[in-house]
Amino acid sequence: MPINIVVTDNYGEMSKFAASKVAHLVDKKTKAVLGLPTGSTPLGMYQELIKMHKQGLISFRDVITFNLDEYVGINPDNQNSYHRYMYENFFNHIDIDPDNIHILDGNAPDLEQECRDYEEKITRSGGIDLVILGLGRNGHIAFNEPGPFFSPVTHKVSLEQSTIEANARFFQSISQVPKYALTMGIGTIMRSRSIMLLASGDEKKRAVKESVEGPVTPHVPASVLQLHPEVTFVLDKDAASLLDKSRMRSCQKDKVSLLYGGKNK
Ligand code: GLP
Repeated sequence: MPINIVVTDNYGEMSKFAASKVAHLVDKKTKAVLGLPTGSTPLGMYQELIKMHKQGLISFRDVITFNLDEYVGINPDNQNSYHRYMYENFFNHIDIDPDNIHILDGNAPDLEQECRDYEEKITRSGGIDLVILGLGRNGHIAFNEPGPFFSPVTHKVSLEQSTIEANARFFQSISQVPKYALTMGIGTIMRSRSIMLLASGDEKKRAVKESVEGPVTPHVPASVLQLHPEVTFVLDKDAASLLDKSRMRSCQKDKVSLLYGGKNK
């Protein structure tokens, strides 16, 4: 199954393209269910969506959201929690119903139960229409680290040292970065009806190449996306720079859109 690849000129264009895809879904589907990422990469997309909302172009009143992941053992109001990130960078600026926001509770007394409940809530909401992903430098998606198998459901993970180091930039010191997190599983992500992965910058180019061109292996978690029927990678030029251009074919309808292998849609 070919991955749809969109290569944009820069981070700003990547963010605009991603926001327009989200807006399109939210506009056409009542009660659209979104899977939402954190990290630096989606910040521009959130800003674009907020802008569209403020211009009266889009409403999130009926939208239901499930965040991908959350650290274990930090309070929701901690400045590095993904709860706080989501409210500050997105939810506080749009008209979403707070009852429709779902974020894993990394402080729940029973973390396994918390993960089971999360899966059940996703199922009860009718499943995710569009999950938006960032990409770890080691190929992780959400907090699914490279490992011997693909995890089927939401679960607790120990973070790799490289992820702890990459995320230390948000904390005062590396020792404050949590060692564990709760994350949607690879199976949870793959059950979403469509997937959009965002990656920008040089430091993601290797993970992008391995995910798109390499074998499907749990050692590069994002490579599993090759098996999903409806997946788009939205990249900037730097993140796409190692991809084999001869295997891409220009798509007539949209100049920035390139389909990787297979037939044009
Ligand atoms: C974290 C998050 C991921 C995110 C990744 C990349 O580990 N759990 O969901 O995709 O970082 O983050 P960034 O976009 O900051 O590079």
